[in-house]
Amino acid sequence: MANIVVIGTQWGDEGKGKIVDLLAEKADIVVRFQGGNNAGHTMVVEGEQFISHLVPSGILQGKVCVIGNGLVVDPAVLIEEMDYLSSRGIDVGPGKLQISDRAHLIMPHHRAIDHAREAMKGDKKIGTTGRGIGPAYEDKATRRGIRFADLLDAESFPEKIRAIMEEKNFYLSNYFSADTLDPEEVIEKYRGYAQRLAPHVTNVSITIFNAIRNGRQALFEGAQGTHLDIDHGTYPYVTSSNTVAGNACAGAGIGPKEITGVIGVVKAYTTRVGAGPFPCELLDEIGDRIQEKGAEFGATTGRRRRCGWLDTVLLRNAARLNGLTGLAVTKLDVLGGLAEIKICTGYECNGQSLADFPTDLKVLEACKPVFETLPGWPEDISGVTEMDKLPINTINYIKRIEALVETPIDLVSVGPGRNQTIVRRNPLA
Ligand code: GDP
Ligand code: IMO
Ligand code: MG
Repeated sequence: MANIVVIGTQWGDEGKGKIVDLLAEKADIVVRFQGGNNAGHTMVVEGEQFISHLVPSGILQGKVCVIGNGLVVDPAVLIEEMDYLSSRGIDVGPGKLQISDRAHLIMPHHRAIDHAREAMKGDKKIGTTGRGIGPAYEDKATRRGIRFADLLDAESFPEKIRAIMEEKNFYLSNYFSADTLDPEEVIEKYRGYAQRLAPHVTNVSITIFNAIRNGRQALFEGAQGTHLDIDHGTYPYVTSSNTVAGNACAGAGIGPKEITGVIGVVKAYTTRVGAGPFPCELLDEIGDRIQEKGAEFGATTGRRRRCGWLDTVLLRNAARLNGLTGLAVTKLDVLGGLAEIKICTGYECNGQSLADFPTDLKVLEACKPVFETLPGWPEDISGVTEMDKLPINTINYIKRIEALVETPIDLVSVGPGRNQTIVRRNPLA
């Protein structure tokens, strides 16, 4: 039996949704363990596209899906997503979708503070998704958050909201000169959410533990990417949770001995949405071409994604931080038609070569990528489903990534569709 964590190795949007949907075929339970609706995970099945922000990507395969304690959940967004999936004929009843009673709620004041802070920062802004993620995690850390268990306690919920909103309204109005919110309206709205979601709320740690104990296979679906991790990413240009594989345990409520493998999803080039350093960014027509061919627009905010060459300094960092046992390379088809493809093999900083990803952003900003150039391939590979049918230059690109990252590539994705994938080794088989 295998229990696998799937995480992003770069700055998000690597194609985790597609890979989780594909691997979910052989899983019994699929668990999100951090983040919130800042995530946008795309699945394409038989030409139909689904984008999920909170519901795990195993839902299309009809698997039991779990929203772990490590998430911050906007209940309005979750209900909208459930209604949407339901309207497309997908079962999202309590038998298929469980929510941790310990997961925290995103409240209207979290979104208001997120927006007000970004507006105040001007050109120094992080470029958050504006979903209230940071302010919600902040309240969790300062022990003032509202959990699903609190939402369902009809007696004490109103008092908790009135108390916290007094302070939030003072902050919004006096510090940001922003509009305040009416606590009674919020209480009423959230009462409705409580009614709707109550049948799904449970202690999911027990669900996952029992599934594993009964020989079921679990898949843990990461959101964002390793370099958006609050500890290990390009701080402060990061999200507010731990995105690395280790957090699958804390964010789902299981012990580390249950995890048998970690798949790092890596786009065949690099992208980033929002602000922050990006050593391999291409600000030329090749960058524009990759952006257009790869349709690199954010699945959550619709923002244009910044594009650049593949960065293996970043990937080696991700391999270590997550204990990767395998890689899934996505969007290889997008590089087709380029005469030459570059891979960043190291950084040079003030005349010195740097072996590891630096902590200090000033150092990172001064880093110049060292590139190796490989020949491209003119062929359209989006219909290839076997490794040995790929052009030799594509195979050489894959092998070079494996060698530089010292991690085997288990899956190769050549298009957005579930079937547009070469499975060299299925970690759940
Ligand atoms: P996630 O956040 O990691 O799940 O990734 P997103 O869904 O935000 O972004 C990945 C985008 O690339 C989506 O639009 C996917 O449909 C698409 N995609 C995934 N794999 C491939 C691939 O191999 N080729 C192409 N052309 N598109 C892909
Ligand atoms: P998926 O799961 C790409 C980025 C935002 C911003 C920073 C902080 O689809 O890969 P936040 O709203 O989290 O406080 O924003 O993190 N960001 C993502 N970028 N993919 C994501 O998720 C992201 N989630 C957050 O753009 O730079
Ligand atoms: Mg995404």
